[in-house]
Amino acid sequence: MKNHMQIPLSLYVHIPFCAQKCPYCDFNSAKISFDEQVYVAALLDDLRRDVEIFALNGRKIQSIFFGGGTPSLFSVRAICEILQGIGKIIDIASDCEITLEANPNSSEVAKFSAYRQAGINRISIGVQSFSNENLKVLGRIHSSNDAKNAILAAEKAGFSCINTDLMFALPNQNSDLALTDLKTAADFAIEHISWYQLTIEEGTAFFAAPPANLPDEDAIADIFAAGREFLTAQGFEQYEISAWTRNKKCRHNHNYWQFGDYLGIGAGAHGKISQAQEIVRTEKFASVKKYLARSGKNPNPYAAAVKKVEKDAQVFEFMLNALRLKDGVPRQFLTERTDLALEDIDGLIQDLIARGLLANDNDFYRTTEFGFNQLNIILEEFIPS
Ligand SMILES: C[S@@+](CC[C@H](N)C(=O)[O-])C[C@H]1O[C@@H](n2cnc3c(N)ncnc32)[C@H](O)[C@@H]1O
Ligand code: SF4
Repeated sequence: MKNHMQIPLSLYVHIPFCAQKCPYCDFNSAKISFDEQVYVAALLDDLRRDVEIFALNGRKIQSIFFGGGTPSLFSVRAICEILQGIGKIIDIASDCEITLEANPNSSEVAKFSAYRQAGINRISIGVQSFSNENLKVLGRIHSSNDAKNAILAAEKAGFSCINTDLMFALPNQNSDLALTDLKTAADFAIEHISWYQLTIEEGTAFFAAPPANLPDEDAIADIFAAGREFLTAQGFEQYEISAWTRNKKCRHNHNYWQFGDYLGIGAGAHGKISQAQEIVRTEKFASVKKYLARSGKNPNPYAAAVKKVEKDAQVFEFMLNALRLKDGVPRQFLTERTDLALEDIDGLIQDLIARGLLANDNDFYRTTEFGFNQLNIILEEFIPS
């Protein structure tokens, strides 16, 4: 039976500002001017309301993730204020993982040591590629050398985990060029690589005018196979579709994938919170103007929507997250984190096992190697009718 007090709780903090808008990016981010102090005050007010509305006292935050946008545009003082403010509103676990997403521009890299001192213990650097040609096509304002300097600065600052975001399936890329990016990253003392396939998202500049010479499906499959072989040989384990690590899984994202709970504060942030009687999803106003104007209804005027997740949607959402993980999740999480019982889906699970898509494992819901590459086929079976 679900015991919501036992479900791990994370906190996502969205900073929607960027120095420029990249042509591939459909995140809630924009090049707009901002008043740091006004935004910090709104974030903390937003959190205070969520904690009160959902009676979260008694639960501890086990991970905090500053995502964007570009959180590293914020001053060290602002990040300190946010962290101290959070601690006054809700308990933070003593071993809390605290990640900050950073762009590798020199003005931001200069703050790395001070971020570490302020309590950030994991840094995620948006490298994307070490090829200056590709960085240009991607509209990035940093160079390959800037990216290398950023990783060195992060090593020096002493974060307990360094992640680099890299993208593949880039224009003119073949396996050799993709491997050059991975090799350059893996040669540093980093513990984590998020290796994303470039997707052309609707509403982006790339959607309107795609870049020339994107690799075709076969070339992308070759790049992925070569990258997998290389990363494995370098001691990286793929634990999720895009996440590779040398023994330091991202606790924050792992909690999403294990159907844990999370609060989402800031413009456009999403949250998922389990209560004794229901599971709800929260969504804050995406427009910074509307967010700061507190345009919604009380009790949380920062929220554009708060929706109950119905039982048949819970199973879909549970599997959508859980099966992204190579090891899947313990079966008991279904009963501990949703309003379902194991028997409710057992017929379907047996069918998927018989089709070779799910592993015949009494303790875990997890895909087979074959099923991992056919996730959409599996998930279709869980779509609520
Ligand atoms: C929230 S973004 C931004 C972090 C930071 N602002 C930056 O740009 O480095 C997190 C990561 O998502 C990835 N990403 C964004 N758009 C993508 C796309 N269309 N396809 C694949 N990966 C994408 C990039 O690797 C990016 O670093
Ligand atoms: S990729 Fe990062 S820097 Fe570029 S627009 Fe998106 S959030 Fe901003």
